[in-house]
Amino acid sequence: MHKYNDSTTNLLDKYPRADLLQTPVIIHKLPRLSSHLGLNIFILRDDLTGFALGGNKTRKLDYLIGDALVHKADTLVTMKATSFSRNAAAAASACGLALHVVIAGTESEQNPASQAFFNQCGTTLHYEPQGESVLADACSHLVDSLKKQGKSVYELHPGGSDAIGALGYVRAFHEILDFSYRSGVHFSHIIHSTSSAGTQAGLVLGQCISTYDTCIIGVGASLKADAQSERVRELARSTARMLGIQFDETKIVVDDKFVGPGYATPSEEGRTAVKRFAAMEGILLDQVYTGKAAAALLHFATHGTLEGGSVLFIHTGGNAGLFY
Ligand SMILES: Cc1ncc(COP(=O)(O)O)c(C=O)c1O
Repeated sequence: MHKYNDSTTNLLDKYPRADLLQTPVIIHKLPRLSSHLGLNIFILRDDLTGFALGGNKTRKLDYLIGDALVHKADTLVTMKATSFSRNAAAAASACGLALHVVIAGTESEQNPASQAFFNQCGTTLHYEPQGESVLADACSHLVDSLKKQGKSVYELHPGGSDAIGALGYVRAFHEILDFSYRSGVHFSHIIHSTSSAGTQAGLVLGQCISTYDTCIIGVGASLKADAQSERVRELARSTARMLGIQFDETKIVVDDKFVGPGYATPSEEGRTAVKRFAAMEGILLDQVYTGKAAAALLHFATHGTLEGGSVLFIHTGGNAGLFY
């Protein structure tokens, strides 16, 4: 069995966190799905990270807001009305920071539930009627103007996937390793949804630091495998540079066969997987990310790809999408 060690915690120790996450996070077996598929399937419940809307964003924000606080920021700026920016809204409130979000479109075009969430958290929203193409420019103008007003500004990458944000999943890998060591369960495969790359880059680096023998499969939610792998590689490289470590690029495995009709459009296999998780385990998945990753899990399980081992499925959250 793998020998657990503290190299990851030592590396991460110098990066402060905002303590948004309730720990220990939960890993448990999916008993009915496991016996149905003839495999040992476990789930990491990052839908239950214990803060605001939950999900993988909490892990990224834990380090990002930690970094913002070290830099004495009083104001955060990000763009797009996404689950990341909504979680950032809650995190900003909890840490006594202001948050500005630049959003494409007009106010009347926004989802009312999303707007209500931002309003409750006291987020300042800026609308850009000319759309997505001008968001980056609008954001940098906003940052300049806030600085001129004397604010200490920290910019959050949309999706939270920069070198600091990716640390959240380096740490998550450490928690997986800890569980594996204490329970004696070795995960031959780890399966999760991948898009802006922070989750996968962090996991792969965590694996490389620990030398744990497993295959991490990022199931694409949007891009073709080559483009998604490149996105993960770039982010993993910059995070590895920051940490001063080497990493093995061959550990980046992306499967794009489950994107279906396209990003954010439900797929038939995804729908089936969402139903199966709900009907067999009472676990809710979304159609954009976790449903498609679960479709991959079910496909691999029934096509012999996962034979013999124990598999960890990472529930990266996204449940708020069920209500928007
Ligand atoms: C619920 C959910 N799962 C997975 C992902 C993909 O994670 P990442 O963007 O870190 O690749 C996202 C990204 O938005 C998400 O919202």
